[in-house]
Amino acid sequence: MKTIIEPFRIKSVEPIHFTSAGQRRQLLQEAAYNPFLLKARDVIIDLLTDSGTGAMSSAQWAGIMNGDESYAGSDSFFRFEEAVRNLTAMPYIIPVHQGRAAEKILFTVKGGKGKYVLSNTLFDTTRANIEFSGATGVDLLCPEGHDPAVAAPFKGNIDLDALTAFIGQHDPADISMVILTVTNNSGGGQPVSMENIKAARAICNQHHIPFFIDCCRFAENCYFIKHREAGYAHKTVLEIAQELFSYADGCTMSAKKDAFANIGGFLALHDAQLAEECRNLLIITEGFPTYGGLAGRDLDAIAIGLTEIVDEDYLKYRIRSIEYIGEKLESHNIPFLKPTGGHAIYLDAKAFLDHIPAHQYPGQALSCALYLEGGVRGVEIGSVMFGKYDADGKLTPSAMELVRLAIPRRTYTQSHMDYLAEVIIAVYENRSAIKGLKITYETPFLRHFTAKFETV
Ligand code: F0G
Repeated sequence: MKTIIEPFRIKSVEPIHFTSAGQRRQLLQEAAYNPFLLKARDVIIDLLTDSGTGAMSSAQWAGIMNGDESYAGSDSFFRFEEAVRNLTAMPYIIPVHQGRAAEKILFTVKGGKGKYVLSNTLFDTTRANIEFSGATGVDLLCPEGHDPAVAAPFKGNIDLDALTAFIGQHDPADISMVILTVTNNSGGGQPVSMENIKAARAICNQHHIPFFIDCCRFAENCYFIKHREAGYAHKTVLEIAQELFSYADGCTMSAKKDAFANIGGFLALHDAQLAEECRNLLIITEGFPTYGGLAGRDLDAIAIGLTEIVDEDYLKYRIRSIEYIGEKLESHNIPFLKPTGGHAIYLDAKAFLDHIPAHQYPGQALSCALYLEGGVRGVEIGSVMFGKYDADGKLTPSAMELVRLAIPRRTYTQSHMDYLAEVIIAVYENRSAIKGLKITYETPFLRHFTAKFETV
């Protein structure tokens, strides 16, 4: 097999600023061992997120110049609406400034005290918006999704038995919706199969429960369906995506992921009444329904991005580049979440740093070590992000201790990925010297963004 090359040439570049190991030690100390508090210019390879950090194409930049900045009824909106409708076939398409704005609006209408929202795994902003409305978010991930070492093809699936059982134990009228996150970001960027989507939809139908999709990474999910699920090999990713959306009553989207945009999102719906209620809220917080908190030019960038993202040469390179890092780690027996997912490598910090107990935050310690070794910035997805305190103030750790290295779209080349693998391998070889951390400052919600740490 020949090397799968980046399916683009580079027309505009952005410099990387290099730092020495000594400088990084100083900078990390100043950032209180929280990579979120580092300045981006002090990072060599920034894998904090794949959200809004990708490179736009020349066609998207040309689209930016075509942006129509009219307050109401701009041409940009109609181009955006057409692109979203071509994918989703949903009649009501509401632009928003990013994914969580769609979530805030949707759950203000559909959430509330006494309600439940069921999911494979809710992303943290989705859960926060559900809980902020007074409703309860419930994750019902399939059993194989909880084990980082088992390599199953669709580890993002919802547990259908658990879904049926939950509905049986509650009044279906109290279940606002089932919303599947594709791919399942918090669970390792793992895909959901079409079979699972269809089955979840059928269960919802029996009980008149709306079925939604958090479709931030729909194209990556559909690429996995094409290559892993029987009956899809001959279909295009666009056709698979259209089928996926055909099962949903609505979807929330962050265009910062699978639309190659730096900002934006949408809420798309079938129900006219729900769409009207959502638009009423949109006008208060986001803007007029044809721009929803975005500039006209952003709408054009999204419209073009949505057509580029289903390009299978791109998706092949995208998924392969993540798998490539996985193979390098595997050859050194480095523990990571298997199989590699759509947008990130998730290191298994619990196994990687098995000498550091959960209350000394092995994921945070590992992400700090990657920065010190090579200026790589990732994010802890473990007990800093999800840990809770019990009544005695004792930490209830997260089930998994992961470090996510999210790969921005079309941004880094293969040599950056080779460098990344070298950094991870070097950290692994010296892992016994890595120390745990303790928290010296934290906020009551989403503490991982601002928490401060000291080494123990
Ligand atoms: N849903 C999923 C699955 C996400 O991954 C995100 C964002 C959102 C919703 C919210 O979208 O950021 O546009 O408001 N994920 C980013 C990440 C932040 O780093 O994974 P947003």
